[in-house]
Amino acid sequence: MAGVKPGDVVYDLGSGDGRIIVTAAKEFGARSVGIEVNPLWVWWTRLRIGVLGLRDHVEVIRGNFFREHLGEADVVTLYLLQGTNDRLRRKLEKELKPGARVVTHVYTFKGWRPLTVDNESEIYLYKIGDHRDPAYR
Ligand SMILES: C[S@@+](CC[C@H](N)C(=O)[O-])C[C@H]1O[C@@H](n2cnc3c(N)ncnc32)[C@H](O)[C@@H]1O
Repeated sequence: MAGVKPGDVVYDLGSGDGRIIVTAAKEFGARSVGIEVNPLWVWWTRLRIGVLGLRDHVEVIRGNFFREHLGEADVVTLYLLQGTNDRLRRKLEKELKPGARVVTHVYTFKGWRPLTVDNESEIYLYKIGDHRDPAYR
């Protein structure tokens, strides 16, 4: 949905078991970064990255994504909670470059207008620079 292509940098905020960052590298040729607070998931993801031989393409940072700078991302993916998306909104607007794509599952961004919606899977695609909903105050 985000049109990820080789050379893109994909960040998954709260990368869980690492499936998104692994898929971004393996199937779409991206360099990918996961940020995950749960050490068990970080351990599991690093194991997976090693077994799949993806160490040059995928990394997972153990920590809080609110404390990491996101400016190099071409694509950011999220499957969090509504309250977390609300708190992330300004950080994404401040740090992401124009044209960066934000893909979120289930929970949206208030005041933003998605470019594309997959209603069946509840996936929303936004593009920074073209993301504000003029109807929202
Ligand atoms: C629903 S899972 C999504 C996993 C993965 N992104 C996916 O779509 O398969 C949300 C993950 O976000 C992590 N998380 C929540 N808040 C976080 C934070 N502030 N910093 C880093 N990770 C966080 C949780 O530990 C959990 O693994």
